[in-house]
Amino acid sequence: NAAPADAKNLRVKLVLLGDSGVGKSCIVLQFVRGQFDATSKVTVGASFLSQTITLQDSTTVKFEIWDTAGQERYSALAPLYYRGAGVAVIVYDITSPESFKKAQYWVKELQKHGSPDIVMALVGNKADLHEKREVPTEDGIELAEKNGMFFIETSAKTADNINELFEEIGKRLP
Ligand code: GTP
Ligand code: MG
Repeated sequence: NAAPADAKNLRVKLVLLGDSGVGKSCIVLQFVRGQFDATSKVTVGASFLSQTITLQDSTTVKFEIWDTAGQERYSALAPLYYRGAGVAVIVYDITSPESFKKAQYWVKELQKHGSPDIVMALVGNKADLHEKREVPTEDGIELAEKNGMFFIETSAKTADNINELFEEIGKRLP
């Protein structure tokens, strides 16, 4: 099928932020390669990957993804990656209240220092570990609603909601 004449080709810089171990690199790997790595190594500095998707209206979106390092020692580098980003994806682990606190920190940080028109998404990852859940879905919904963010729970392990996350972001781009 030929793309409609008004189909757009978008390109956007996306940054992933969140505590170490929440699954940022696994989300990217599942999105870009369709794989899960149970022995994923901590990210050093940041890593870059890109992936293009096509939305239902034939708009293509090229995501230029900066997967940042969550370890505290790298926190001073974060502004290098979120500055100029059109999209920020803030990730926490639904089994870790501490990682949810860190997500709240990132929301504030981006409101203070991110670009004013940045599209923000809040992601509760490791949704497959429902027996170990410690952060209720409602808490994620509330934080997202208060801050005008899109919210979704994902599993980088089962791939649940991974493509949906990026499609929903694509639909919200200006
Ligand atoms: P940093 O690079 O240090 O910031 O961590 P990260 O957020 O990139 O975490 P990473 O993707 O490396 O994942 C950390 C661990 O969580 C790995 O052992 C993964 O296998 C595991 N993991 C990631 N996503 C999921 C998930 O959705 N479900 C389950 N069960 N485990 C996951
Ligand atoms: Mg990583």
